[in-house]
Amino acid sequence: MNHPVMQGLAINPPAYVKNAKLIAWVADMAALCKPEQIYWCDGSDEEYQRLCQQLVDAGTFKKLNPAKRPNSFLALSDPSDVARVEDRTFICPQNKEDAGPTNNWVAPAEMRATLQPLFDGCMKGRTMYVVPFSMGPLGSHIAHIGVELSDSPYVAVNMKIMTRMGRAVYDVIGADGEYVPCVHTVGAPLQPGQKDVSWPCNKTKYIVHYPETREIWSFGSGYGGNALLGKKCFALRIASIMGRDQGWLAEHMLILGVTNPQGKKYHVAAAFPSACGKTNFSMLVPPQGFEGWKVTTIGDDIAWIKPTADGRLRAINPEAGYFGVAPGTNYHTNPNCMASLDKNVIFTNVALTDDGDVWWEGMEKDSGSFPAHLIDWQGKDWTPQIAKETGAKAAHPNARFTVAAVNNPALDSAWDDPAGVPIDAFIFGGRRSTTVPLVSEARNWVEGIYMAATMGSETTAAATGQAGIVRRDPFAMLPFTGYNMSDYFQHWLDLGKKLAAAGATLPRIYTTNWFRKGDDGKFVWPGYGENMRVLKWMIDRIEGSGQGKDNVMGISPSYEDLNWTGLNFSADEFAKVTSIDQAAWAKEMELHAELFQQLAYHLPQELKATKDALEKRLAA
Ligand code: GTP
Ligand code: SPV
Ligand code: MN
Repeated sequence: MNHPVMQGLAINPPAYVKNAKLIAWVADMAALCKPEQIYWCDGSDEEYQRLCQQLVDAGTFKKLNPAKRPNSFLALSDPSDVARVEDRTFICPQNKEDAGPTNNWVAPAEMRATLQPLFDGCMKGRTMYVVPFSMGPLGSHIAHIGVELSDSPYVAVNMKIMTRMGRAVYDVIGADGEYVPCVHTVGAPLQPGQKDVSWPCNKTKYIVHYPETREIWSFGSGYGGNALLGKKCFALRIASIMGRDQGWLAEHMLILGVTNPQGKKYHVAAAFPSACGKTNFSMLVPPQGFEGWKVTTIGDDIAWIKPTADGRLRAINPEAGYFGVAPGTNYHTNPNCMASLDKNVIFTNVALTDDGDVWWEGMEKDSGSFPAHLIDWQGKDWTPQIAKETGAKAAHPNARFTVAAVNNPALDSAWDDPAGVPIDAFIFGGRRSTTVPLVSEARNWVEGIYMAATMGSETTAAATGQAGIVRRDPFAMLPFTGYNMSDYFQHWLDLGKKLAAAGATLPRIYTTNWFRKGDDGKFVWPGYGENMRVLKWMIDRIEGSGQGKDNVMGISPSYEDLNWTGLNFSADEFAKVTSIDQAAWAKEMELHAELFQQLAYHLPQELKATKDALEKRLAA
């Protein structure tokens, strides 16, 4: 610790930090980033409140009206920093093939040379927060530890909600335990006397992963998955690599429990791309016609899934909170989510009401009308008239809430169980206005892997770029698989073989599409709670009582195979969301072919064979 630039900066680790490697790393990073001071987060409630107040004083947070939204805050980001930046996200193993054609790759030495000058002095005038966190229950054998160094207090308080963050993590890593080092900067050093802005960030952005050394380096953004490094960077990209090496899965999946009126419980893990309904589905309230059924949330975004010796797959949610999409959420679409947001919430990029509460598009369905006046997510006046004239959204389409899982009234009693829950079914669901039917069941594991691998989805506001473009999003993991996508498919196939060899019944695999549109451009399927009708059909299938007919792609229900009690949904409408258009499917298969061409290196033979079989069936 005799680095020359360390002069004058005290590292001062608390006495409870016993890990010499970690302390040396913090000192090295401080020498590089040159913060004004270092603050070691202890994760206490007192600290959370203090940092929130500090964010209020700095103008980053606005405290909401405590009578309306107790202990809650609103942050408005820089308009250029509103979502994940996939084109600025890099996977940097030694060999390009290990990143694969779906990831941006730069050789690690070259990337380090690029980042070095950017990180040099990047935290000048700011505090470096040392944020220790556990993904998964503290001390559990399935959990993994990370430490994020960040110059953003907004990140520190969000990490407190999203992870098990704080002092107890140091007990877990002890004197020589492992952790994933994560360095994050907003990339906006302050010169002496320079006034800060409410949302510092940099036009230049790099979200970088080094698989071999399991490091994460993030520069220039303060938003979501770019900055809360435990989430996509660690729990998906780095963890998917750990899973490949150690025989488990890190997936972009919600996990839910569904209990039937007889008290029998099933667990389902579902992969939908970003902003395609995971949070909603994980908190589903069964509609009329499903009395006695109960759905409970284990997780809403990420699942770590590990096989046990008997060949069962057990899943945990590595997170401790939800960073969910606000727009579209209301008491009709997701009452459990609305109840979760009553108090102790951080809102980002939603609108502010005149009485100090929050608002977003979709809330008018609850109140029956639009507010007469709001401050929009860019701090500008918003009225229904302005919206009509300019199309201005009050909330950014990727506006989010950060809230602890324990706020969720539908939280599953096992959500925190280190042993996880046994998975009975996987669902893969894209956002497709045409072509893909409401639901199908794969005839076997390999066909299910094929369906997941070739899934297409229309892009959303969750990532920067053009929304509404159909792209292949294998397993809803396109932006999150930390290694070669074909190897990832192989990993899933191998796992299936291994489980079958252990004598286990493999989970069923389904695909869903809640998003087919009619000629009027509106969604035909009512969605949300009504998705229970599809979920129950899956359970019926698992139980052996569910009927279905062979389709191009798997097995699908007929109209009479679903319970329609309490919903007016005609056989005609059902046909609109389930019909198979031969011409559209011929086009779809061309897109599968394109994907397979892109992924030709290491593409599993079984998937090519499945494609051939499908094409024969289509032609027949
Ligand atoms: P990430 O957090 O980005 O990974 O997204 P998510 O998959 O958790 O998405 P979320 O549940 O927050 O849903 C995002 C959007 O999808 C919201 O605008 C919802 O209103 C909409 N949505 C969710 N479920 C349904 C559904 O069943 N039907 C329709 N039409 N829209 C839905
Ligand atoms: C997603 O985009 O899938 C998210 C939000 O869950 S973020 O954490 O910003 O990646
Ligand atoms: Mn997500």
